[in-house]
Amino acid sequence: MCGIVGVISEEQNAGILAYKALKKLDYRGYDSWGIAISNGKGISIYRQVGKIGELPKKMHCGNLAVAHTRWATHGKVCQKNTHPHASLNKNIFLVHNGIVENFQELKSFLKSSGFSFRSDTDTEVIPNLIELYINRGKSLRDATRLALKKIKGSFAVILFAKGHNYMIAAKRDLPLVIGIAERKKFVASDLLAIAKKARGFLFLSDNEIAEIGNEAKFFDIGSGRPKFKRFEHLAVDNLESYKNGNKHYMIKEIKECPIAMKNACIQPIELLDNTTKEIRKAKKIFLIGCGTSYHAALFGAWLFRSIAKKDAVAVLAPDLKSYSKLLGKAALVVALSQSGETADVIDAVRLARRSGAKILSLTNVFNSTLTRHSHIKMMMNAGPEICVASTKNYAAQISLLYLLANACISRRNYAKKEIFIAAKQAQETIRENSRIARAISKKLANSKSAFVIGSEENAFVAFEGALKIKEVSYIHAEGLPAKELKHGTIALVEKGLPVIVICTKSDDFALHSAHEVKSRGAFVIGISTEKNNVFDFFIRVPRGPLSSLLTAIQLQLIAYYLAVERKNDPDKPRNLAKSVTVR
Ligand code: M6R
Repeated sequence: MCGIVGVISEEQNAGILAYKALKKLDYRGYDSWGIAISNGKGISIYRQVGKIGELPKKMHCGNLAVAHTRWATHGKVCQKNTHPHASLNKNIFLVHNGIVENFQELKSFLKSSGFSFRSDTDTEVIPNLIELYINRGKSLRDATRLALKKIKGSFAVILFAKGHNYMIAAKRDLPLVIGIAERKKFVASDLLAIAKKARGFLFLSDNEIAEIGNEAKFFDIGSGRPKFKRFEHLAVDNLESYKNGNKHYMIKEIKECPIAMKNACIQPIELLDNTTKEIRKAKKIFLIGCGTSYHAALFGAWLFRSIAKKDAVAVLAPDLKSYSKLLGKAALVVALSQSGETADVIDAVRLARRSGAKILSLTNVFNSTLTRHSHIKMMMNAGPEICVASTKNYAAQISLLYLLANACISRRNYAKKEIFIAAKQAQETIRENSRIARAISKKLANSKSAFVIGSEENAFVAFEGALKIKEVSYIHAEGLPAKELKHGTIALVEKGLPVIVICTKSDDFALHSAHEVKSRGAFVIGISTEKNNVFDFFIRVPRGPLSSLLTAIQLQLIAYYLAVERKNDPDKPRNLAKSVTVR
């Protein structure tokens, strides 16, 4: 969740380079930021609550720097809890992503050894443990190794120490990439931060520690033994994203749904054949994910059942453990994740791998942790998704799942054709319906609550639509299957309550529900293939096998305009982060 960066340079520009790299991580969602810079003579730290602001001029000079964007987990959002954290005697300066699960225990141990603490964070135990081992005569590298061996949980850390002209980076379960360029080296939690700066890249593996100075050396955290690793050239040109004249990334990315749908179909033939074979072969298919990716998993499982006639279920990634006895060699786990870094998904995949199940991952981030844990990996090709709320990646996920389900019954070309038709329709409906989506948002802007309902697969779209509305407008929204309304929730319907009804079939059951809520005073918005008198507002989508996806995109539009109407920043919703790497 946090973004971390480290820079070592032969010039005195490490601070400014680290600052610029940190700015590239601005999209991830954070509450405070900080940077520590060493110029060989002294070390300065700058830490601030809120968005990344200007770096003070006096901080510009230095050849070593570590920087951090914090998403609070332990200790409230305030300056003293902001990274970098220093050890008691200000020998070690460290930035950290992850959670030290046993920090209370380590804190007590350090206190009994004479250490005191300046923050309420779990992180602060790490620089202090390193200092403790240095005090006991260990080298910086060994002291860091020993400290990290004591830590329970996932981590990625970058640090430098007084009197040492190199940085140290190490990781377990969370990503860290090292980049080299002329006269400087970088470390970052996200390739995007350094993509344009470096020419060679290397991903650190779990339980590895790197010493990065004139050279980069690698060691195993456990044994301390050296490891040989090679920098590679990576195609990073498409990683950057710009708003291209749009006010927010969210609306830009919604407008990119059509192209994302088409690009999801561009898969190497051999990979597609192999994946299709695995799906056909599997006795049981579990589609897993969190948040929006879970909603795509629900839709995907429905497609696999209804089109490919496979025994497929969607499971929230953390709940996969309750199925552990049902996994095994005959099972296929399809892990969906835009970022490929969601901790709950990676944990579930590890559990599934231990059972012998095959793992197919669908991600949007090249070389993410999830892809490295998968037997088969397919890329969404949606392009960088910068807005915290996922939009175009969802459109790509549904398209690829539709293609895979159809490929199982030898209808690959048919599916591609339908996806291309739907992509064109998506483009038209985004353009044609923006005005009405804006009008609906004005009408709903002061609502306390809203419902989104749909029947069969549209229930999954309703879940996703409600999530989008909650995330960016902060209006309480509930998505539910239309048939479920009368089993309880209808008790909440009162005069003026907005109910968004998704209808994509001629005898869509959701229409009955629309009448039921209307007769109790609800304000009914139809996103539908047909106009109906029951609707107070109506958004038309064309009928076709992917109409449900078209309605999902219309819900994204409503959520976006609601956020704008309520003066929220849709790109960085409060309390949210782009990739949820904590458990
Ligand atoms: O990167 P992932 O797809 O694994 O992320 C999963 C969820 O954290 C993510 O979809 C989240 O719900 C988004 N904020 C949805 O807009």
